[in-house]
Amino acid sequence: MRLALAGEVQPVVRYPDRMNRIVINADLGQHTISRHLYGHFAEHLGRCIYGGIWVGEDSPIPNTRGIRNDVVEALRALGIPNLRWPGGCFADEYHWMDGIGPKGSRPTMVNTHWGGVTENNHFGSHEFLDLCEQLGCEPYICGNLGSGTVQEMQQWVEYLTFDGRSPMADLRRENGRDEPWRVKYWGVGNENWGCGGSMRPEYYADEYRRFKTYLRNFGSEPLYRVACGATANGRDAARWTEVLMERCRQEDRFAMDGLALHYYTFGSERRSPATGFGEAAWYDILSSALQMDEHLREHLAIMDRHDPEGHVDMVVDEWGSWYAVEPGTNPGFLYQQNSLRDALLAALTFDIFNRHCHRIGMANIAQTINVLQAMILTEEGGDRMVLTPSYHAFEMYRVHHDATLLPLHLESATHALGDVSLPAVSATASRDAEGRVHLTLTNTDPGRDQEVSCSLRGMSASGVAGRLLSADSLDAHNTFDDPERVRPVAFDGASLQQDTLTVHLPARSVVALALS
Ligand code: AHR
Repeated sequence: MRLALAGEVQPVVRYPDRMNRIVINADLGQHTISRHLYGHFAEHLGRCIYGGIWVGEDSPIPNTRGIRNDVVEALRALGIPNLRWPGGCFADEYHWMDGIGPKGSRPTMVNTHWGGVTENNHFGSHEFLDLCEQLGCEPYICGNLGSGTVQEMQQWVEYLTFDGRSPMADLRRENGRDEPWRVKYWGVGNENWGCGGSMRPEYYADEYRRFKTYLRNFGSEPLYRVACGATANGRDAARWTEVLMERCRQEDRFAMDGLALHYYTFGSERRSPATGFGEAAWYDILSSALQMDEHLREHLAIMDRHDPEGHVDMVVDEWGSWYAVEPGTNPGFLYQQNSLRDALLAALTFDIFNRHCHRIGMANIAQTINVLQAMILTEEGGDRMVLTPSYHAFEMYRVHHDATLLPLHLESATHALGDVSLPAVSATASRDAEGRVHLTLTNTDPGRDQEVSCSLRGMSASGVAGRLLSADSLDAHNTFDDPERVRPVAFDGASLQQDTLTVHLPARSVVALALS
């Protein structure tokens, strides 16, 4: 039986000044913050795969078997834990057999969801799994339920994971891969209420059960099957979760290991600019990002009612900011800039996921490169790449991967613009495998520093070291010509006196502290 509330942060108490109090209960940690909460998503969309990851063996851009070396190196530095592929909406139109065998013989297709461009299928299963091996991350493959067949999905699992002799395993060998791959995470369709087939939840639930029946464990690693979830941005989201939890139960067991949920931060106005915004948009986007917590609570309450023992994980396999595309770019490619605001959006979201880590199995930022809230932007027609502020937030939070969540009590000041108010401070504390305690703090106040007084209970510390991510303007961002405008720097605004840590938290910042 899990203890639903034991690892959670206490409700935030808000004070209308700049004093913030935290108590870290370092001896009360129970739950692990899975590194999979810091997962990624790469779809055949715009320049995410082609140009972002894949340049082909003959490219002048340094690559290993067609995969960009600079991108692999940067993502490895994040400790990227998993990568979801090939979609998204693309997944329910993708036929995996088109993406194997000699590249010159692979059929093309039209990517109808994303710009109507011709997909040459040069990046297929072998290339994706090569990428995951280069990254040292777990693959999370989303199968085609919407326009594919049960047989096709079953054969994909067999092709990838079966060690013995079989038609699919032999085909894999003919295509140059003797050893099976280890593929654990498997999605059964994507957004099947919309782009994945316009299904009603009752219909999808039956389809899910049928597909799941034939998604056998061909390999040594049992599959972790993820059912398509609702989008919290849409209507009737709760009903989808309710029906799936009710109908995907067989006797005393659930048919899935994870149930997905998507939530994008649009703000009150769809397609608002990614840069060149003012304070109102800062408040709008960050308050919209904080709604992730309400959405999780709503859907988790439904899941808990059906599954009080927590057999089914929530899998937030798409989240992030969604703005207007950059001027002059293909509207179907979803290419947007990424500013300091996105780094704070990521940090606030991580804190929410961490608080619910006892119930969330995985989360995936949309998307890794050149699409929506990207970690990396690559130059079109050139060889440069740039790390975004969001990349740096992911990197600063790496300390929490697989660490023990330390319960903390937070009393935060608030600040407001018009009728939108934000808690000034958000935080996560954890203890890593070596016993070190890490505290990450975010100050959402666009213009004012915050003082944080943090009591350390159940531990002793004698030193503190820190890093700071901030910038001189709200929309500060990195460009190919100015790639380091927003990057972490050393931070000396924290001091320790006995069991009290005092932090002078700069305006619009993320700070990571390591206690020793
Ligand atoms: O991430 C972009 C798209 O957003 C995905 O393809 C889809 O699942 C969602 O609607």
